[in-house]
Amino acid sequence: MISIRRATAVDHEVINAIVQGSSAYDGVYRAMLDGYEVPLSQVVQEETWLATDGADALGFYSLVLEPEPELDLMFVADSEQGRGVGRLLFEHMRALAKARGVAAVKIVSHPPARDFYRRMGAIEVGLAYPARNVTWVRPILSLPV
Ligand SMILES: CC(C)(COP(=O)(O)OP(=O)(O)OC[C@H]1O[C@@H](n2cnc3c(N)ncnc32)[C@H](O)[C@@H]1OP(=O)(O)O)[C@@H](O)C(=O)NCCC(=O)NCCS
Repeated sequence: MISIRRATAVDHEVINAIVQGSSAYDGVYRAMLDGYEVPLSQVVQEETWLATDGADALGFYSLVLEPEPELDLMFVADSEQGRGVGRLLFEHMRALAKARGVAAVKIVSHPPARDFYRRMGAIEVGLAYPARNVTWVRPILSLPV
């Protein structure tokens, strides 16, 4: 059975393994992950939540509330994609945002994930233009909570 729990410092390593193992960031997109690590402070201080089947970590999300509510990270492990883990995590994030009194969550999407977010009810509101090591345009979406 899949459950979702608050991430702790113990999960820092597996969270980064899921991120670095993501084939969605192969090719030109890999530049975004080169030298990148999800900070330990983000795991323990922000709303970072982990989906597990009891034994293994399947995926996680990180919702940052300040300065504006934003879904900063969302990853399902390559081997676990396509079986509803992303939807479970997303619905958890939406309920958490609602419980925190949030009206809308910003999402700067990895381009291949845009239609997942649209399917989850987010609306495209703009574009983030290339900056630093991100040499591609990214869709910006807003999720009404
Ligand atoms: C995007 C991601 C989180 C989706 O997780 P997932 O567990 O594979 O998604 P689910 O199995 O829960 O799919 C939920 C629904 O979204 C659809 N969906 C999933 N990924 C999709 C995509 N890339 N495009 C369009 N639809 C998608 C599924 O078909 C499913 O639809 P259904 O419920 O009507 O059958 C996952 O593919 C992922 O981690 N990608 C790599 C990292 C990434 O890009 N993260 C986003 C960073 S902004």
